[in-house]
Amino acid sequence: MWACPVCSQALEKTERTWRCGEGHSYDCAKEGYVNLLLANQKRSADPGDTREMMLNRRAFLEAGYYQELASALSQVLQDLKIDTLLDCGCGEGYYLQQFLRSQPAVSIWGLDISRDAVRMASKSLKQGGNFAVASSFQLPVLSNSVDLVLRVFAPGSIDELKRVLRPQGAFVLIVPGPRHLFSLKQALYDTPALHDLPEVPEGFECESERRISFELKLPNNEAVNQLLAMTPFVWKGSREAKERLENSAQFTSEADFYIRVYRQNEH
Ligand SMILES: C[S@@+](CC[C@H](N)C(=O)[O-])C[C@H]1O[C@@H](n2cnc3c(N)ncnc32)[C@H](O)[C@@H]1O
Ligand SMILES: [Zn+2]
Repeated sequence: MWACPVCSQALEKTERTWRCGEGHSYDCAKEGYVNLLLANQKRSADPGDTREMMLNRRAFLEAGYYQELASALSQVLQDLKIDTLLDCGCGEGYYLQQFLRSQPAVSIWGLDISRDAVRMASKSLKQGGNFAVASSFQLPVLSNSVDLVLRVFAPGSIDELKRVLRPQGAFVLIVPGPRHLFSLKQALYDTPALHDLPEVPEGFECESERRISFELKLPNNEAVNQLLAMTPFVWKGSREAKERLENSAQFTSEADFYIRVYRQNEH
């Protein structure tokens, strides 16, 4: 399914190297992933989420705070009866790992622009998936090759996603619901805004939608700081408010998510 980022031909894997018919080749790292992000596709030397954000996200997710979301997602994916799944902006692979436990036969492909993210995902899924450092805006993926594209809180190009999906393919998107982490935002900003839900992208219809909302109890200071460090909040808000939060012994907020299944309607 990987395509050469230089000439777009199919890549074949022999031992630890992916090669195209034109002779371009990409070696796998020791964790098994491959770098398919060309130097001219990067806006910085080390794009995407940092290793520190990743480590905090992994610790937070592994403590089970978003387990309800992961289980709901696995169920939604299972019901779609797919053979291949591409996770665009897969992070350190938490949702893929959860899904693979219930559906080990599905062929899993994941990419992220952050090398640290891909390294961690590849290491924890071992033989369970194929991972690449790549951008969701220029997918190194063959056209019409994927049953399902997954995007969990990550950016990407809709046109690229349409190109790689098979005609009857599904696009599963997880976005924050209006009240997601609202009390955390109240603690940081004078006038916090509710999240807007995205429009259904052109060329797709919304086949199903599921809202997952629950009380998010962070029982200790460590969990509060992990959440702050893994979300964009870490960069914003007033310094005093942030310090107060960073020092708090616990915090309760709202988790609010939408899982949407979109289907292409132009075929
Ligand atoms: C909020 S995180 C979500 C990660 C993961 N899906 C999860 O929920 O745990 C957003 C991810 O998108 C990645 N990302 C940002 N820009 C990207 C791009 N252009 N292409 C691919 N991934 C990108 C970041 O490196 C980060 O891992
Ligand atoms: Zn090539």
